[in-house]
Amino acid sequence: MPQFRQVLVTGGAGYVGSNLVPKLLSGGYAVTVLDLYLYGREVFPGFHGHRNLREIQGDIRDIGLVQRALEGAEAVIHLACISNDPSFELDPALGKSINFDAFRPLLVAAKKAGVRRFINASSSSVYGVKKEADVTEELSFEPITDYGKYKAASEGVLAEERAPGFVTASVRPASIMGYAPRQRLDLTVNIFTAQAVALGKLTVHGGAQERPNLHIDDMSDLYLLLLEAPAEKIDGQAFNVNAGNETVLGIARRVAAALGRDIPIEVTDTKDLRSYRTSGEKLRRVLGFAPRKTIEDAARELAQAMAQGLVPDALTNERYYNVRRMKSVNLV
Ligand SMILES: NC(=O)c1ccc[n+]([C@@H]2O[C@H](COP(=O)([O-])OP(=O)(O)OC[C@H]3O[C@@H](n4cnc5c(N)ncnc54)[C@H](O)[C@@H]3O)[C@@H](O)[C@H]2O)c1
Repeated sequence: MPQFRQVLVTGGAGYVGSNLVPKLLSGGYAVTVLDLYLYGREVFPGFHGHRNLREIQGDIRDIGLVQRALEGAEAVIHLACISNDPSFELDPALGKSINFDAFRPLLVAAKKAGVRRFINASSSSVYGVKKEADVTEELSFEPITDYGKYKAASEGVLAEERAPGFVTASVRPASIMGYAPRQRLDLTVNIFTAQAVALGKLTVHGGAQERPNLHIDDMSDLYLLLLEAPAEKIDGQAFNVNAGNETVLGIARRVAAALGRDIPIEVTDTKDLRSYRTSGEKLRRVLGFAPRKTIEDAARELAQAMAQGLVPDALTNERYYNVRRMKSVNLV
């Protein structure tokens, strides 16, 4: 029996949520999803209408709606977000209003509603570009984008709102990879896989930049673990999570090899200096959590899903690309 039965997942209809929410339901949780459904309604195949699933389409900036979504909630997993560097930069004021300004009111409302555990999705981007070989949780925040800056600032707000009986933790995930019903194809491993399958070749911009990676199944397993972990192990803590660090060119080579074909890799110049690397050691030490899946697993599974027609129009449908969708929905 889970220690918290009712869980609110903000942004639960996104990429991570579309993998996590079915797992929570299968694990016996009752789940409320509060999401704008920016990427479509069909994100929980086989689970829409589930007796333990309440779906609320709306904005986390609408505090009345947030309060309604929180009714009965014992735990919150907070994923709602303008969730990558480039889509944030399209409209920085919009990004700030969702990723930062809405955060404290959500925390205050959660405490008032009797929520006892709050798990916050932060990001590896809080660290910026580090010289240290081991980027551990103690290192300072030096974000180089507004997305990273507001993830970092939100962790500060979370620390301020932490209170006895209101257990808080942040996760700083790597770039996530793999198939999910709400697919993202704007993340490194997924981009390369889609290119390999759809075009038969890969284009790498730069290549020396590093990216930590994490399979989406491991991501959602960690959220479940954080719901059940003893409070004293996680309260007030932040955890990096990754299945390893790899250069972008290294990722391209591994994806090409995993797909088992002779796929040419073209390397071009880039102005994108973002290079991230993290250590997942604390998570192993404190919670005994080690990701199980690899870049190769993610590439093969996504390629298989594409072959089965589960990711139609991979290169052209804006649903898979956050920036393209944010441009066309004109959210204010
Ligand atoms: N995917 C990654 O590689 C990655 C890496 C590190 C951290 N994260 C974090 O994990 C979380 C989930 O990421 P994801 O990849 O699933 O992103 P996503 O963009 O697929 O999902 C975010 C969801 O939030 C919803 N949303 C956006 N603004 C909203 C608002 N104002 N009110 C209600 N809902 C809103 C969107 O409709 C979407 O369904 C995010 O916080 C992200 O920053 C993701």
